[in-house]
Amino acid sequence: MAEDDDAAYWDPADPDPDPTSALDFFDRDRHLCYLQMMLELLPSAYQGQEINRLTLAYFAVSGLDILGGLDRVDKAGVINWVLSLQAHPKNEAELENGQFYGFHGSRSSQFESSDNEGPIPNGSHLASTYCALAILKTVGYDLSFVDSTSILQSMRSLQQPDGSFMPIHIGAETDLRFVYCAAAICSMLENWNGMDREKAKEYILNCHSYDGGFGLTPGSESHGGATYCAIASLRLMGLIEDDLFSKTGTSCCINVPLLLDWTLQRQGADGGFQGRLNKPSDTCYAFWVGGVLKILGANKLIDKKGLRDFLYTCQSQYGGFGKVPGALPDLYHSYYGFCAFSLLEEPGLASICIELGITDSAVCGF
Ligand code: FPP
Ligand code: ZN
Repeated sequence: MAEDDDAAYWDPADPDPDPTSALDFFDRDRHLCYLQMMLELLPSAYQGQEINRLTLAYFAVSGLDILGGLDRVDKAGVINWVLSLQAHPKNEAELENGQFYGFHGSRSSQFESSDNEGPIPNGSHLASTYCALAILKTVGYDLSFVDSTSILQSMRSLQQPDGSFMPIHIGAETDLRFVYCAAAICSMLENWNGMDREKAKEYILNCHSYDGGFGLTPGSESHGGATYCAIASLRLMGLIEDDLFSKTGTSCCINVPLLLDWTLQRQGADGGFQGRLNKPSDTCYAFWVGGVLKILGANKLIDKKGLRDFLYTCQSQYGGFGKVPGALPDLYHSYYGFCAFSLLEEPGLASICIELGITDSAVCGF
């Protein structure tokens, strides 16, 4: 960090700085400190998110990987902690009992058992399982050592007759987010026995809306996050080819020109991306929507300077990114801010595999 830059940082004498005086460079050093701090000691404001501990760890560990700071992570400690959160069946028969044997989000969120067997951890969740595997890959753990049979075999019972996935065996909303998690899990474990791909494809295409985007469920409003889940899943399943942008008609039953039209229209006059029509621009959609454009091979159509300038206004002087200009940073928006800058080819940042949400080097295992 150059000494001259010091003046641009947060000043205790002016604790509520004017957000319009944002930095106009990607403050990598400050972001590294922010993530390391979050990895070591989460602020109390995150207490209510204890059940999502694995997801928060994924943001911190993979974020450090993007920033080139993986040497700050105690890899063996992280591996042991993540592996300790996997649920295992007591025997093979239990694999057929309808429970999901993946990873649960945190050790301390448990509930009382009725048969005095001690506290039972919260059930395994598809999002926690996706994050667990993403962390393990990022710190270089060989996933062939993971009990993948239990995960994949029990995951099949989460898939619904319409092709969607429930995230947890006791039941919850079923939508494209969990189709994506299931596809990413199969892709990382290099085994597609965990899902019926044809049914999943059918569900995804049923979520394709009249305006070109995808909703989380069939018939629902097109949304940037849902569109990412749809396109990234199809990509992981090998159902859409490279550079779809150059195709003029439909591919895999997707209306590509209409999808491109919807996606490009999410970039606003302020340079940022919104998740859906009539909503303000928000840091995370630079990745969710920008990532879709990248998968389609159309990222050259992004107004890159506009997007960078918008993201600078969301960059916090404490390190990290907030949701909107001037907002306090949070781990979720910070992570997707880093992903967005990687997409924008910020020097010094690792490239990311858009469809898996981790760095290319984590995917390749080096
Ligand atoms: C709307 O929230 C948010 C959604 C409809 C969910 C969007 C889905 C994702 C972000 C993808 C999740 C990805 C994985 C990997 C599981 P809101 O109304 O607060 O947001 P908005 O105002 O920006 O639309
Ligand atoms: Zn957001």
